[in-house]
Parts: sequence; C-alpha cells; structure tokens
Amino acid sequence: MSRRLDWVTSPSHGLHGEIVVPGDKSVSHRAIMLSALAEGTSRITGFLEGEDTLATARIFTRMGVRIDAPSAGERIVHGVGLRGLRTPEGVLDCGNSGTAMRLLCGVLAGQGFDSTLAGDASLSKRPMRRVTEPLARMGAAIDTAAGGTPPLRVRGSQHLHGTDYTSPIASAQVKSSVLLAGLYAEGETVVHEPRPTRDYTERMLTAFGWPVAFEPGRARLSGGHTLCAVDVEVPADFSSAAFFIVAATLVPGSRLVLRNVGMNPRRTGLLHVLRAMGADIVEENVRDAGGERVADLVVRHARLRGIKVPVEHVADMIDEFPVLFVAAACADGATTIRGAEELRVKESDRIAVMAAGLRALGVGVDETPDGAVIEGGRLHGGVVDSHGDHRCAMAFAVAGAVAAAETRIADCANVATSFPTFVQLGRACGLAAGLVAE
Ligand code: S3P
Repeated sequence: MSRRLDWVTSPSHGLHGEIVVPGDKSVSHRAIMLSALAEGTSRITGFLEGEDTLATARIFTRMGVRIDAPSAGERIVHGVGLRGLRTPEGVLDCGNSGTAMRLLCGVLAGQGFDSTLAGDASLSKRPMRRVTEPLARMGAAIDTAAGGTPPLRVRGSQHLHGTDYTSPIASAQVKSSVLLAGLYAEGETVVHEPRPTRDYTERMLTAFGWPVAFEPGRARLSGGHTLCAVDVEVPADFSSAAFFIVAATLVPGSRLVLRNVGMNPRRTGLLHVLRAMGADIVEENVRDAGGERVADLVVRHARLRGIKVPVEHVADMIDEFPVLFVAAACADGATTIRGAEELRVKESDRIAVMAAGLRALGVGVDETPDGAVIEGGRLHGGVVDSHGDHRCAMAFAVAGAVAAAETRIADCANVATSFPTFVQLGRACGLAAGLVAE
C-alpha cells in the first residue's frame, strides 16, 4: 500500500465515558453478499464503513447490484437473486480483505462467467489453497498464483456438486466459502471443523430463508433454494471493542462503557481470558438484536496476572491476539499462548510483529511456532512497526497509552480497513488523547 501514516502516542490518564464502536466486519461483509444474492430489497443498518467492507460492496456493484447508501452505516441492497449477477469487467479488487476474497471465491465459483479476484500487497501473500482445494472438490475451476496465493482466476459455468468436507483448519472463512459455493451445488454440502468458528454465515443464511442445519463445528446445507430479502441489524464489532476493553483494563483510574457490543460466543474468547487474568468487565443490558446477542460492557481498571491461554479459546479470539499480547506485556508474570499458528498468516505475521514491537518497548517475548511466551513488565515507550496490519497498529496504540513515554507506531493507514474512526473515538474517551498522525 502506498499510503504511509505513522502515529505518535503519549501516556493515557484514564479512559472514561461511553462509546459505540463501528459495526461488525464479518456481519457487514455477509450482509452485503447475501442481500445482493437475495430476491427483493434488504436494508442493512450498522454497516461498517471500513475499506474492507466497502471493497465487498463495490465488487457487487460492479456485478450489477444496486446498493444505495442513504446515510452512514445504512445500505439498501436491491438483490438480483442467486443467478442475477452480471459479468464484471476487469479484476475485482478485495483490497486488504481476506474475508472478501475467500467468501467471494465461493460465490464466484458458482457463476456463469469468469472472474478474477486480486488484493493489496498483504493479501497477495496470503494462502488461498485452503479455499480453492475444497472448492475444486466441488467441481470449481480456480487458478492461483504459484504458491497458492492471489490473484484467483475463477472459471465460470462449472457444474458444482455438494461435498462432505473436513477442514484441517479452524477457519470461518474456509467454512463460509464452501457453504456459499454449496448454494450453487447439486446435492448436500457439509463442512466439519477441527474447532467451532464464528457461525454468521449459517445464521444469516437461515435469516434469509435458506435451510441450514448447524451446530458448533459442523454445518450442512443443500442447493436449490432461494434467498429472500430481510433487514439486517449489524451489532458493534467485538474485535474493535477489544482495544478499548484492554486499554480501560490497563490504564489506572479508567471506567469505560461500551454500548451495543456483539457478544456472539464464537467471538468473545478474549473476555474469558481477560477475566481469568483478573479483569473487571461487567455485561449489562444483555439482549437480542436482529438475532445476535449484544450487551453493554462496563470495564474498570484492574491489575492483571499472566496465565496459560487455554487452547480451546484460540478460535473464539483469533483476531484479539495482538491486543492480548499487550495485556500480557503489562501483567504480573508470564503469559503463554499456543495453538495459534494461524496468526502467522493474517494481515501480517502477527506473532512476529507483536513480539518485535513489544521487545522494542522493553518487554521480553519468546516466539514459538504457534504462539509466544510474554514476560509481563514495564513498557517504556519507543519506536514500533505495525507492518501495515490494522490490528497490530491499534494494539500498539493501546501499548502507547500504557507506556511510560512516547511511542511512535509506523504504518497505520490500514486501520481504515476495519476501524476508520479509531483515533476519533480514542481521543473522545481518553485512550489516545495525545495520539497524532504524521
Ligand atoms: C473472519 C474469520 C477469521 C477472522 C477474520 C474474519 C470471517 O478468519 O480472522 O478477521 O469473517 O469469517 P479465519 O476464518 O481465516 O480464521
């Protein structure tokens, strides 16, 4: 990415007040995809106005779907039905978004036209065979670059048939890609996962009227049905809330309220881990909003102690490890993370990037192939590099809020992919009072 943006943070004096973080990224992607493929008009509220989800919307627009944006966070999607997409001209640009590319690959495998999916420098290095292989078993014809990376050339007009697929990786993106291709397949498609992952695709397909049988770790559907337009209410993204939850926990004197946070149990593994470390997080006003559990979270400062992170929570907090590294760096004693090798193939190698950054700020981190051992200590400020990874940049901003002195964070522009208002919200509640962009 050519844009270059560095942040400089100074120590926070406490996080206070009430905030609402932007809409859930996973739900926003799926809401655009399913409403575009549905019969009728759907209204999406709480849509994430981030670069990743805007890329997905733009791709459907290029395939002939009319998407109106009457206000920020609102989309009216005029569905074209399962077979109504038009042949796009040129390459479809997924930007930084692995979710867009992997899920769209499943949808495009079932179309009557050829298409090409590409992405930015980070996405162009990420593994795609995890989706192209199961899709090929279903009859799809998809070429990758050497090494199994993007661009993906998807040949249309293939006859897809269902599959019974046992995924070696706990990945909602893999599961969703196969299920979305299953909409176009003859017969039954079943996906088994080594550990349960987020189930938004299954839940949203059901809401759009497509029969899906699912339970943690397994999902099954058949081709030959129709998606019917519905309205989708997107909850606030737990993964975006996580930066503020950890910051309020770490900075003495903090008391922060986060409203309307999505609490899908496949996303909230971090809460279990932080509570086991001693965090003070209270859930209030737990309710159902558009079929998803949401709550207001009240977070107060607490002293943390290091733990061994239970491997069974890893998939339920897969996007929260960068900020957990920071929590662990400030805890008493050591925190051990294992079973998290997927972190090495996210928007960056998150184990390497977080370990290098925390070491630069004065904390001892030993990397292992599938995790790290972080020796809690004192962050003294310094210079770190997020390597263009949005979640590492925001995690380092939390570290900068706790550090004793100024912290410079390089390469933060990609925060706009998932949380374009991070700095603004951070300033409003005291996380990033002194944060400046250069
Ligand atoms: C996502 C699934 C996760 C997660 C990503 C979003 C999704 O990826 O890291 O940010 O929306 O399905 P994997 O399924 O590859 O673990």
